[in-house]
Amino acid sequence: MKLSRNDLCWCGSGKKYKKCHLSSDIESGAGSDYPVQLNGIRIKTQEQIDGIRKSCRLAKKVLDEADKIIKPGITTDEINKWAHEFILSHNAVPAPLNYNGFPKSVCTSPNDVICHGIPDDTPLKDGDILNLDVTTVLDGYYGDSGRMYLIGDPSEEARKLVKVAKECLYLGIEEVRPNRDLNVIGIAIEKHARKHGFSVVRDYGGHGIGILFHEEPHIHHYSSKKRNIIMQPNMVFTIEPMINEGKFGTKLLVDNWTAVTVDGKLSAQWEHTVRVTEKGYEILTG
Ligand code: MF3
Ligand code: CO
Ligand code: CO
Repeated sequence: MKLSRNDLCWCGSGKKYKKCHLSSDIESGAGSDYPVQLNGIRIKTQEQIDGIRKSCRLAKKVLDEADKIIKPGITTDEINKWAHEFILSHNAVPAPLNYNGFPKSVCTSPNDVICHGIPDDTPLKDGDILNLDVTTVLDGYYGDSGRMYLIGDPSEEARKLVKVAKECLYLGIEEVRPNRDLNVIGIAIEKHARKHGFSVVRDYGGHGIGILFHEEPHIHHYSSKKRNIIMQPNMVFTIEPMINEGKFGTKLLVDNWTAVTVDGKLSAQWEHTVRVTEKGYEILTG
């Protein structure tokens, strides 16, 4: 996206670019053909979006295929090995592996694990719920998506949590369109979770993505103070609400990755990578 001096500024102020962010973009080294918001949010170019979309489609494919192998008795290590090979065989690499020291290729978070669970040799058992979170790097571009899997026949309460968490993701996505404050996403998500007696995790959030694994901005899934971050076409970020059956608090295990609920109750998470379009949104991992 190349803005000229007399175009409207990308920030949504309604002012001409030359009267608004042009000088700060030049100062920050962003240049007018690669606008970066003051707070560091990248606006992706068409070429980047095409690359990110390809990576996102692969992440989706991993989750689709995983559905066929995830069943009672399989260990999360086996899921990890399978996903690792699958991603490599599609000329991509799994982003989590060695990311800040993360030891595996995917995150597997069962039951009371909120996120960043490390695959291990524990077999999944009938009644478990499991989040599988896959991030691929294809031609240098990142795609990030996660889903819940029902193992055998989970309780009605567990199924309800999984269903409401999925609804929260889609309600959040439906809020995405240009010139709106980012906080509308969290407001919609929290409202729905609370309506069903569930809570929203605050210690982890969504994130800008595409060129890096985790970019600005941080996405809150609860209603938070105004940060005045306005959605603009070709911002790309994840929405990945973690919804708890009990309290929203989190605890980090000694492995320094696994986040669990403080009260030992269940947690569920669904994630998509989303692009802001001219009129609304595109679910890149959809
Ligand atoms: N995929 C996770 C996310 O949605 C991040 C995992 S970081 C890792 O942001 F290191 F644990 F893999
Ligand atoms: Co993820
Ligand atoms: Co993510």
